[in-house]
Amino acid sequence: MPSPSSEAVHRSAKRDIVVDRVHKVFGAGESATTALDGISFQIEDGEFISLIGPSGCGKTTLLYMIAGFHTPSAGEVLVSGQPVTSPGADRGMMFQEYCLFPWLTVQGNVEFGLRIKGIAKSERHEIANSHIRRVGLDGFQNRYPHQLSGGMKQRCALARCFANDANILLLDEPLGAVDAMTREELQDEIQDIWWDDDNRRRKTVVNVTHSIDESVYLSDRIIVMSPRPGRVREIIEIPFERPRRPELRFEPEYQRFVAYVHDLLKSFKGH
Ligand SMILES: Nc1ncnc2c1ncn2[C@@H]1O[C@H](COP(=O)(O)OP(=O)(O)OP(=O)(O)O)[C@@H](O)[C@H]1O
Ligand SMILES: [Mg+2]
Repeated sequence: MPSPSSEAVHRSAKRDIVVDRVHKVFGAGESATTALDGISFQIEDGEFISLIGPSGCGKTTLLYMIAGFHTPSAGEVLVSGQPVTSPGADRGMMFQEYCLFPWLTVQGNVEFGLRIKGIAKSERHEIANSHIRRVGLDGFQNRYPHQLSGGMKQRCALARCFANDANILLLDEPLGAVDAMTREELQDEIQDIWWDDDNRRRKTVVNVTHSIDESVYLSDRIIVMSPRPGRVREIIEIPFERPRRPELRFEPEYQRFVAYVHDLLKSFKGH
């Protein structure tokens, strides 16, 4: 079977995101670092994808390219059939370092994008508050980032990303800093944002995570990347019915997938 990275890529507007033989080299000469080495995959409109792989394998770099913050050294990234040349309102990004504005409160941070879009004060207040509640920060609207714990900052950044209602959500370890129970609650919130009340997929999500459980619980497919220089090692389809229910975690078939991804990641150690 040819490796996924060598597959010819079929261009189609229905494919929301196409990553086509992408290489990324940072720096030049002796200090050059190859972060990504020929990555190809396609994401359908409405899919939930997780990217998982060892630290430094290029997950953030790849997400930045889909977002339009980095350009590939070779190859191409297409969103809705068009080459990505810059960031756009169709793509909402939640950064690994949260990137909250320190001079704005929780409310101000979550409302920021809505204000830029020119949404009236009362409406943006309502939208922001519903997302602040969803991430469990009700009552903290007037706090500044330096008054929040790491997990609370992360939840604020997640609320800000959701509030903008972009079609494509690019999430870089969105739940890395929250405690285990909050993490499970927020995974269900992320699923709810993605999966609307009529059981339709509303958004395309690319979720970078170090949590194997999270990747199996939330994803339609998991893209497993090998250690730097990043390549696609395997793409795993997760077949469980939607919406995923918390009890799923206790089922043997679910645990079989968790063990499979675990063993794959473990196989990288020592290479
Ligand atoms: N702006 C940059 N300049 C130089 N090297 C960079 C830059 N950004 C990333 N790199 C390098 O590219 C490689 C991939 O980094 P990246 O941040 O994409 O990894 P990651 O998979 O997101 O890791 P982590 O799981 O630790 O967040 C690393 O070796 C990193 O040092
Ligand atoms: Mg990263």
